[in-house]
Amino acid sequence: MEKVVSGIRSTGNLHLGNYYGALRNFVRMQQEHECYFFIADYHSLTTYPNPEDLHGNVRQILSEYLAAGIDPEKATLYIQSDIPEIPELYLLMNMNAYVGELERTTSFKEKVRSQPNNVNAGLLTYPVLMATDIIIHHASKVPVGKDQEQNLEMTRRFARRFNNMYNQEYFPEPEPYNFGEDLVKVPGLDGSGKMGKTEGNAIYLSDEPQVIKKKVMKAVTDAGPTEPNQEMAEAIKNIFKLMEIVSEKETYDYFLEQYNTTRIRYGDMKKQLAGDIIEFTDPLREKIKAIYGDQEYLKKVAAMGREKARASAARTVRDVRKIIGIKSF
Ligand code: TRP
Repeated sequence: MEKVVSGIRSTGNLHLGNYYGALRNFVRMQQEHECYFFIADYHSLTTYPNPEDLHGNVRQILSEYLAAGIDPEKATLYIQSDIPEIPELYLLMNMNAYVGELERTTSFKEKVRSQPNNVNAGLLTYPVLMATDIIIHHASKVPVGKDQEQNLEMTRRFARRFNNMYNQEYFPEPEPYNFGEDLVKVPGLDGSGKMGKTEGNAIYLSDEPQVIKKKVMKAVTDAGPTEPNQEMAEAIKNIFKLMEIVSEKETYDYFLEQYNTTRIRYGDMKKQLAGDIIEFTDPLREKIKAIYGDQEYLKKVAAMGREKARASAARTVRDVRKIIGIKSF
């Protein structure tokens, strides 16, 4: 049994890519491992969400996790800002992180380029906060996508540095959790790359049926194949991939056959695809809505998560204070 930690920034709703890429795997992982899933609302502050949105986003993602099947009795599901031990350990870890190495991370350099007017210190020390999230529970495994690999590398480095500095094997160095075969890469609708938050590219778990229909009908295609078994353009591959994920095998095979015999009508295929996505998301959306509206339940879930997460975090902070030499009178 591994200790697994995974955080998600609270910057908006989850889409099908999040669902098939991670969330579905989390539901499975919680049966086998000691899992800490949390909503990283501190991390989302680097981009200044407005105060109303901040809580609404946390509530939305919490509802989505629960609706998708994260069980707050099995996993520890909590909100980062509910755990005061996190900022405390973060402060201590900051003393061991060098400005130079933080400035050299790709995500920081990318932010400096994309938002030169808001290069705040929170952005610089983002990897320290993330490392804190992970090591505070002594995690051994962290499920991360490509974009987070460097942050995990930094986490290992900070853990190792702490251990070396105080001459003891206190923090384990967390490894990436590899979903292997279970990692489904969901393509987006704009003809290139994977599903992401750019306008019109993603289908959100909470999208209403008309919205889904509209987005799918607008998905990028091409003029259609002119000869049998023609190599597919990227955009067409993406539509087929989406269909492979959400539709019945016969449906997928039918349209593939249509494509390979040049009879395909993308309009028909998209209509079918939209219908199948709606069929899949319908019950989930209803569940999300019901949970979102159930203040009492959310409060109970958050309290349960807070209690479990704090118990684990407090042990670490107590140890670390002692290791560092902080002593109360
Ligand atoms: N940085 C992660 C992201 O943007 C979110 C995150 C914060 C995280 N703390 C974490 C992920 C700890 C894993 C473990 O996706």
